[in-house]
Amino acid sequence: MITEETLQELVETHGTPLFVIDHDELRNNYSIFKKNLPRVQAYYAVKANPEPLIVKTLFEEGASFDISSIAEFETVYENIKDLPEQEQHDWLWKNVIYANPIKADDTLKKLNKYKPLLTFDNREEIRKIKECAPDSGVALRLRVSNAGAMVELSSKFGASHDEALELIFEAIDAGLIVEGLSFHVGSQTTNFENYMQAINLAALIFKEVKERGYDKMDLLDIGGGFPAPYDESVKPFSELAKRINTELDRLFPVGCGVDIVAEPGRFIVATAATAVSKIIGKAVRHGKLCYYIDDGVYHTFSGVIFDHCQYHFEPFKKDGPTEICTVFGPTCDGLDVISMTEELPSILERGDLLYSKNIGAYSGATSTYFNGFPPAKVIHVNL
Ligand SMILES: Cc1ncc(COP(=O)(O)O)c(C=O)c1O
Repeated sequence: MITEETLQELVETHGTPLFVIDHDELRNNYSIFKKNLPRVQAYYAVKANPEPLIVKTLFEEGASFDISSIAEFETVYENIKDLPEQEQHDWLWKNVIYANPIKADDTLKKLNKYKPLLTFDNREEIRKIKECAPDSGVALRLRVSNAGAMVELSSKFGASHDEALELIFEAIDAGLIVEGLSFHVGSQTTNFENYMQAINLAALIFKEVKERGYDKMDLLDIGGGFPAPYDESVKPFSELAKRINTELDRLFPVGCGVDIVAEPGRFIVATAATAVSKIIGKAVRHGKLCYYIDDGVYHTFSGVIFDHCQYHFEPFKKDGPTEICTVFGPTCDGLDVISMTEELPSILERGDLLYSKNIGAYSGATSTYFNGFPPAKVIHVNL
């Protein structure tokens, strides 16, 4: 846990805005994930935060990786580039899933020599994979309920139960090896029922596929979605893990020949970063106090737009009365509103600092250079 004192010292050295990543917290989250889901190999979803040092720390902890682009592949590859070629291939084959169901021809051609595991969810993709990456294994991405998730993914990806068998056998007929099934219940899913329904659907499809004579499916990928503890309304991860373990043990018992993997992103990185920003302006508009800070929704707080996430601010100066304020980002754009309901001290002034915890996921990852403001400086602590 990074203290206010440490944050202040970092600001003295580096200025603001800062994006401070705590690697002890990363290791801790990874270990909580492993401890609570002992049968599940964690493939960190690099998209949540692709900082190379995050990938390195998790690599050293024994994580595998979910990638969705060549750039993410390269970030992971950097960690194994000095291994002999065969060992590189073996490691990539075992530890990387390309989990974007729609892939460009070029991407597939570049990846083919590593025989990666690819997800797919439609007929066109089978043809494309056959043509551009015929040596890869494939897993069918199922469409499952994303009800109650903060970020919904099921309208963009996933084959329905009705389509699943047809697609699996079409891929097999095309000469591809269908290794298993994957799903994603939606990011920041606090509705644990989504996981239960999805695991049950997957078990049913495994059974139907076996009944039709194909017994090479040996992988179930339960995706991401594991919620970060943004506030007290999020039930403990241990509660979700207990329910997942029970359902996995019932439907995919140990020894049944199916390996279980997951693609946690947010759960691993959300609590591992803190943003520190400085108040650069103060105004009263329509009777409401407004603070303008040097980071915003085009930068570290981009998750307000892309991730539907609401972050909160803590002042370093805690004295005096508070009021509900608006916090704006630094750009000239009217969209650059971080929060309209922050309770902050009224006495804060230009130069005072604010910090936002739990901002490690889908934040810096989607930061831009809009309006000439560069992304916040990234600082790593406890490396
Ligand atoms: C295919 C896939 N896997 C994993 C993740 C990571 O999800 P989360 O950050 O909710 O754990 C995502 C996020 O969009 C995804 O699309």
